[in-house]
Amino acid sequence: MKIALIGYGKMGKAIHEIAKEKNEKAGKLVYDISLIIDIDNRATITKEELQQVDVAIEFTSPHTAVENIHWCFDADVPVVVGSTGWTSKLAEIQAYAKENNKAFLFAPNFSIGVNIFFELNRYLAKIMNEHTEYDVIMEEIHHTEKKDAPSGTALHAALDILKRLERKSDWKNENSDDSSTLSIISKREDLVPGTHQITYESEIDKIDIIHTAHNRKGFAGGALMAAAWLHNKKGIYSMEDVLGFNKH
Ligand SMILES: NC(=O)c1ccc[n+]([C@@H]2O[C@H](COP(=O)([O-])OP(=O)(O)OC[C@H]3O[C@@H](n4cnc5c(N)ncnc54)[C@H](O)[C@@H]3O)[C@@H](O)[C@H]2O)c1
Repeated sequence: MKIALIGYGKMGKAIHEIAKEKNEKAGKLVYDISLIIDIDNRATITKEELQQVDVAIEFTSPHTAVENIHWCFDADVPVVVGSTGWTSKLAEIQAYAKENNKAFLFAPNFSIGVNIFFELNRYLAKIMNEHTEYDVIMEEIHHTEKKDAPSGTALHAALDILKRLERKSDWKNENSDDSSTLSIISKREDLVPGTHQITYESEIDKIDIIHTAHNRKGFAGGALMAAAWLHNKKGIYSMEDVLGFNKH
């Protein structure tokens, strides 16, 4: 499978490394990273060159993701998107993909562990509807270079809670006193790939679910898995589809 990496920073490089490891293990070229695109050569790559790949994997920035997604749509190349911080445009992109029969898969977090964490979060929010003595709060910690806050992962988990927990109607990226607001606390510390914690607390006890990424390998492996899954498909997908989770 021929893959274009759009964005060759920390994530693009991590995906390349995992692809090499997987190819070595398989003893053949399963993931052929045939096109590497970054800011310095982006303008020189033609539509025809992009069309040589089976799937593109986009990890750039909040400001460049939408343009790159449309570039892939125009070339009719399935695109797996990991960039975060642009999701105010997600519904628009999904509608365009649907209308124009494109292949699009976005995940704010590609790690398998985080997607299991999402599934636990959805289940917990659903059962906590009955248990009004618990309040919920979320905390996320990332490295200091991270451009968006709250993280795309925290935002995704927050929206999953808002959809299921009737006593919360919105979220704020601060500690809020309003009981209908879900507080998301964002911390930025050196060398933290990503930690997310959701805490339900009553006067009696506390339940935490926490995911701690040790490195970027989980994101990179999940993005490759998603690319293989999207190959030869049309439509709009998420990691829940790749992993076969039932949505609660
Ligand atoms: N979904 C996930 O699992 C996941 C995991 C980690 C990071 N992220 C997100 O992915 C994005 C990239 O993260 P990173 O850590 O690799 O960042 P990074 O800053 O290390 O790398 C981004 C790269 O994109 C390049 N770039 C910028 N504009 C471009 C353009 N128009 N076309 C092509 N390349 C361009 C930059 O030069 C840089 O090399 C961020 O939005 C981050 O939040 C998502």
